Amino acid sequence: MSDTNMTPETAPKKSGFLNKHAILERSPTLLFVFSFLVVTIGGIVEIAPLFWLENTIEEVEGVRPYSPLELQGRDIYIREGCYVCHSQMIRPMRDEVERYGHYSLAAESMYDHPFQWGSKRTGPDLARVGGRYSDAWHVDHLVDPQSVVPESVMPKYEFLLHTPLDYTHVEDLLKTHRMVGVPYSDEMIEAASADLRAQADPDSDYDAMMERYPGAVVSNFDDQPGVTEMDALIAYLQVLGTMVDFSTFNADASR
Ligand code: HEC
Repeated sequence: MSDTNMTPETAPKKSGFLNKHAILERSPTLLFVFSFLVVTIGGIVEIAPLFWLENTIEEVEGVRPYSPLELQGRDIYIREGCYVCHSQMIRPMRDEVERYGHYSLAAESMYDHPFQWGSKRTGPDLARVGGRYSDAWHVDHLVDPQSVVPESVMPKYEFLLHTPLDYTHVEDLLKTHRMVGVPYSDEMIEAASADLRAQADPDSDYDAMMERYPGAVVSNFDDQPGVTEMDALIAYLQVLGTMVDFSTFNADASR
């Protein structure tokens, strides 16, 4: 008799533990009770540690809270719905990494409330657009995208150039972000308004601001007097994806 036509009765009896599952499989009640136990244990193992871990995102060197000007620019980005056409999340797939750069790290959006990963890519991903173009290019592009990229379907945002930035509540903005976990210090909050002006004016004394927000781009972004919404938005665009130094970053070492 070959192995293939053995009936359960003629098959040699397997010994011990392995045979016992038949008991469970024949009793729906027992099967339910034991499945429930297994799922409960698995659930506890996965969920319980989260109550003791302070943070589930690995911190990565270089990632800092947004400067006041960048944060206000971020609010304009959200207000204007830029996320409707632009994502900020480079997936670890070859075509994306080749086009946009290193895939996005969780830590890079840890201070984003709400995050701007997006779900629609009518335009390119912007996670690493910082430093890719000059400030002047951004001004030209935002004022009239078709003047730079003729086939573009992006709307014009010229009004940002003529709208003074309202930053009367910038301290409150930082405080609100602190409430949801962004580590703004009292000093940062107190200096928010001055730091905002300093970043938009290369002739100012911006050393203290740079110390608080290393790597911030100081510029009169739109080349106009006064701080406009255009300045804030471009300050935000220019910092995107530039906080982590990928020439020294090692994903395995930070694990
Ligand atoms: C209707 C969809 C749409 C909206 C809304 C939109 N964009 Fe775009 N954006 C595009 C398209 C399409 C492109 C590619 C062509 C071009 O460069 O204009 C683009 C390109 C860009 C680029 C150049 C990216 C690169 O890597 O070349 C930047 C920067 C940009 N957009 C910023 C913004 C900002 C900031 C806003 C909000 C104020 C915004 N966009 C709103 C569609 C949009």
